Amino acid sequence: MTAATFDFTPLWPAGLPAAAAKWTGLAKFSFVGGNNDPEQVPVEGLIDAVNAVLKREGKTLATYGLASGPQGYLRLRQFLSAKLKRDAGIACTADEILIVSGSLQALDLVNATLLARGDTVIVERDTYQGALNRLTRLGINTIGIPLDGDGMRMDILADTLADLRRRSITPKYIYTIPTVQNPTGTIMPEARRVELLGLAGQYGVPIFEDDCYADLIWDGHRPPALYAMSKSGNVIHIGSFSKSIAPALRVGFIVAPWAALSRMLALKTDAGSGALEQMVLAEYCAPHFEEHVPSLTRGLRAKLDTLMDALNAQFGTSAEFEAPKGGIFLWLKLPDNVDTLKLYQAALAAGVAINPGPEWSTDKAYAGSRLRLCFASPSHEQIREGIAILAEVCRKEFGVPARIANVETRARTSD
Ligand SMILES: Cc1ncc(COP(=O)(O)O)c(C=O)c1O
Repeated sequence: MTAATFDFTPLWPAGLPAAAAKWTGLAKFSFVGGNNDPEQVPVEGLIDAVNAVLKREGKTLATYGLASGPQGYLRLRQFLSAKLKRDAGIACTADEILIVSGSLQALDLVNATLLARGDTVIVERDTYQGALNRLTRLGINTIGIPLDGDGMRMDILADTLADLRRRSITPKYIYTIPTVQNPTGTIMPEARRVELLGLAGQYGVPIFEDDCYADLIWDGHRPPALYAMSKSGNVIHIGSFSKSIAPALRVGFIVAPWAALSRMLALKTDAGSGALEQMVLAEYCAPHFEEHVPSLTRGLRAKLDTLMDALNAQFGTSAEFEAPKGGIFLWLKLPDNVDTLKLYQAALAAGVAINPGPEWSTDKAYAGSRLRLCFASPSHEQIREGIAILAEVCRKEFGVPARIANVETRARTSD
C-alpha cells in the first residue's frame, strides 16, 4: 500500500454516506445477509452453460449490450417472459423487461424515477434493510404498516391512506414483498392482494412489488403476482436470480409498463449489466431452472428444520417464531429484555453473526428484541453449533434462556 498523504476530506460533498467498513471476512457462524447455500449453486451446469454460450455467441461480447440492445440479453428476457407467465401469471413481452445488476439496482432505478426528497412512501413495518436504507438516504418519509401471518395488514393500510389523504399527502408508492416476505416469510394470499390493489387504485398510489424470494416456496404454489392482477398497470415488479441461482452473479430484472420502464432505462447509465452472467443464466436456466428450484427448496427446508430444532433445544420457549413459508430467513422474537443490537455485538465477538431486528424495521422499539437469521448459507452443523453459542451469549448478557439445552444454568446477575 502507498503512503496516503492527500487529504480528500474537504472535497466530500454534503450528504455523502458514512465511510464503508473494511471487509474482515465472514463470521465463523454466519446467519446474516441474503446469502445462499454454497452446496446448491449448480456449478457443473453453469460450467456447461458458459462453454456452450461462449462458443456459440462469444463474439457478440465485442458490442455493448451484445446484440440485444440496452435492456439486456434477449434470450434471458425471453426466458423471464415465459417463466413469469408460467409462475406468476404475468403476461409481458421481452420488451417490458429490463435486466439490471441485481434487484438492488432495480430499487435504485425505481427510486430515482419516482422519488424526491420529502416524499412519502409506504412499506411493510418489518422489511428489507436495503430498501429502508435507500429511503433514509434519499430523505423520504417512510411509513411502516404492520404485518400478520398473511403479510401487510389491509385495515391499517386503509387507515393510513385515509389519514394521509386528510393531510393532502399521496404516497409515491406502496413497497411490498408479498411472496415470501423479508424478514417475516409470509405470503400474501390472493384475496388480500385484491384488497391491496383496491386500496392502491382508490388512492391513486402505485405498488412496488419486490418478488425476490418468490421462487423459494416450500410447496411451490404461489398466488399470482400483483403485477398480473392489476387492471390499471399501476404495479412495478422486480425480481432476481440471486436467491434461485446465486447472489454474486448480480442479475435482477424490472417488469414495468413502457411509460415507466423507459424512464428507468434512461437512468441506467452503466452501458448495460454484466453480459457474461446474463448469457450463462439464459443458457443454464432455459433447460434447468424448473428442476433446479425444487431441489434447492428441499435443501433450504431441511436447513430451516435444523434451525428450528436448534432454537427449540437451546432457547426453549424464549424464542418465538412462525415457520416461514419459504425463503432463507427466520424472523425471531426473544424476551423483551433482550436488546438484539447488543446481542449482535456480543455474538459477533463469539464468532456468530446475526441481523438485529431494528435494522429490518421502521419500528425500532417493536423490533428491539427481534432478529433475523439466514439459514441458507451455514451448514447443518454450523447451524447447530452457532445457535448453541448464540444461546450461551444471550444467557450471559440477558439471563435468557434461563436453561440451555434443558440444563438449568444460573443467569448472570451483575457483571
Ligand atoms: C427483498 C429484497 N429485495 C432485493 C434484494 C436485493 O437482491 P439482489 O440485488 O441480489 O437481487 C434483496 C436481497 O437480499 C432482498 O431481500
